[in-house]
Amino acid sequence: MLLVTAAKVLLAHTGLEEKEVLSLLEIPPQPEWGDLAFPCFVLAKRLRKSPQQIALELAEAISHGEGLSASAAGAYVNITLNRSVHIPLMLAELSKPDFLKPDIGHGQRVVIDMSSPNIAKPFGIGHLRSTVIGAALYRILGETGHVPISVNHLGDWGTQFGKQIAAYKRWGNEEQLQQDPIGESLKLYVRFHQEAEHDSSLEDEGREWFRRLENGDAEAQRLWEFFVKVSLSEFDRMYQRLNITFDHVLGESFYNDKMQAVVAQLRAKELLEESDGALVVRLEEEELPPCLILKKDGTTIYPTRDLATAVYRREVMKADRLLYVVGGEQRLHFQQVFAVLKRAGEAWAEQCEHVPFGLMRFAGKKMSTRRGKVVKLEEVLDEAVARAQAIITQKNPNLQDQQEIAEDVGIGAIIFGDLKNNRLNDVDFSLEEALTFEGETGPYVQYTHARIRSLLEKAHARTGAHSNSSDIAPVQERHSSDLTDDVSSEMLGDAGWALLKQLDHYQGQLIRAVRQLEPSIMARFALDTAQAFNRFYAKERIVDGGQWRIQLAEQTADILARTLQLLGLKAPNQM
Ligand code: ARG
Repeated sequence: MLLVTAAKVLLAHTGLEEKEVLSLLEIPPQPEWGDLAFPCFVLAKRLRKSPQQIALELAEAISHGEGLSASAAGAYVNITLNRSVHIPLMLAELSKPDFLKPDIGHGQRVVIDMSSPNIAKPFGIGHLRSTVIGAALYRILGETGHVPISVNHLGDWGTQFGKQIAAYKRWGNEEQLQQDPIGESLKLYVRFHQEAEHDSSLEDEGREWFRRLENGDAEAQRLWEFFVKVSLSEFDRMYQRLNITFDHVLGESFYNDKMQAVVAQLRAKELLEESDGALVVRLEEEELPPCLILKKDGTTIYPTRDLATAVYRREVMKADRLLYVVGGEQRLHFQQVFAVLKRAGEAWAEQCEHVPFGLMRFAGKKMSTRRGKVVKLEEVLDEAVARAQAIITQKNPNLQDQQEIAEDVGIGAIIFGDLKNNRLNDVDFSLEEALTFEGETGPYVQYTHARIRSLLEKAHARTGAHSNSSDIAPVQERHSSDLTDDVSSEMLGDAGWALLKQLDHYQGQLIRAVRQLEPSIMARFALDTAQAFNRFYAKERIVDGGQWRIQLAEQTADILARTLQLLGLKAPNQM
C-alpha cells in the first residue's frame, strides 16, 4: 500500500507501468534517507537525459504532490511519506479484506499432495515436513483466492503387505498390534526379513498373500484393512496435535482399478516398450531414464499409481494445478511421471509441480530415540510440550490453562522450527533452540503476540473502552480529534513508523509466498514483525502513548495472529 501510493504518484511523471514502478522501488538502506527510493537509470534511455537530471526533475515534481516529499541523491529519488497523512490511511488499510486476502488465485483449484506416510511403517521426519509445509501452503493458497484441496496419498499398497500378512499369521498378536500399531508392524517386518534369510518359504508365503490380496481374497482383505486402520489411528493422533485435517485421504490402493485405463492409453499411443520383460516408457528426449510401468510379473508400480492418481485429480477433482509436497529425493520420480503424462498427450501435465524440500535431522541427545532408523515423532512432540511446560511454569507460574498453552507452544516450536527455513534447505533441528523465547522461534513470535494482547488489555482498562481486536472502529471516526493533538512525528515515534511500514509488507510477502510456494517467507515476516514491535515497545510509550499507538499495537497483534495461523501455529492470548 505504501509502495502503491508512491507508485501512483510516480506513474504520472515517469510514463512507466505501475507494475514496473513497483518492481523498481526500493527500501533505502538508511531510514533517514527516506521511506522509499526510486532509481532513475531505466528512464535515461527513454527520456534521453542523464539519470541524475531525471532524479532532480522527478524529485521536484513529486514534492508538489500531496503526502510525499522527495529529494534527489545522485541517480536516485528518495521519497519520504508525510506521516500525518499516511499513518491513518495505512492503519485503516491494514484491516481491509482486500489487503489481507488479495485475490490472486481467481478460484483456481489446487490439489495438494501432502503428508502421505506409509501404512505399517513409522511416520518419518520427511512426512512431518510434507505435512507441515503442505498445510501451510494450503492455508496460504486459501487466503489468496485459490481453492486448495488436500490429499493424503497414503502408501497402503504393495508387495510388502503380503509379507506383513505372512509375518502376522506366523507371529502376530492382535492386541499388541492395536496397542502399538507401528512398533508391532515394524517388529514383524524386521523379523520377516531376518528369518527369510534362512527360510525361503517365507518369501513365497509373502508373495502368495499379496496375490490373494490383489485377487480380493476375503481374509487377506480383512487383515490388510486391519493394518490400515490401526496405522491410521496412530497417524491421526499426530494430525490432531498438529491441527491438520485433509479434504481427502485416498491411499495408493484407491487407484488399483484405475491403472488399467492409463496403461491402455500408453499402449494405444505406442509409448510402451519392453525392457527385460518389463514394460517401460522411454524418455530419452527428456534425458531421463525410462519410466517403469509394469513389472515383469505384470504388476503395477509406484509411477503407474501416480499416473492414475494425476489423471483422477485432474478429471474427477477438477484440479487446475497439481502440487506434490514430497522430499527432494523423489525428484526423478516426479520428473518421469510428469514426462510420461506429457507424452501421453495430457496438456495439463504442465500444471503438475513437485514441491520438494530438504532433509531434516534432529540434533540433541534426547531426540535420538530411534526405532530402526527413524525418530519416533510422537516422542519428539511430547518432549517439546514437556519442555514448553517447564519454561512456562518458570516464567509465569500463575498462568491458567498451562497445559493447553504448553501444547500450543511446544507444537508451535516444531512447526515454526521447520517453516522458518527455506524449504529446500537441509535442517539440523534442535529442540532446545526451537523453544527459546528470545531466538528466531515460534515461541518468540507467540510470546510477542501475547505480550501485545496483555498491553492492550491494560490500555483498555485504563481508558475504560471495551474494545476487542476484531471490532475496531473506523479510524477516521475514532481518531479525528487526535490528528490535531499529535504532532505528526510524535504519532507513533520513529520505531512505531518503522513497525507500521513493516506491517504494510504483509500483502506483498503473502503474494511472494504463493509465487514461490515458500512458507518461510511468512515465517520471516512474522519474525521481522515481532522484532519491529519489540523495538517499538523498547523505545516508545504505548499504553499511555495515545490512540494511534494503541491502534498500531492492535493491528500488529492481529497480523501476527493471522500469520501464525497461516503457518499452523496457535496464538494464545497469554503465555
Ligand atoms: N508414500 C510415499 C513415501 O513415503 C510418498 C508419496 C508421495 N506422493 C505421491 N503422489 N507419490 O515415500
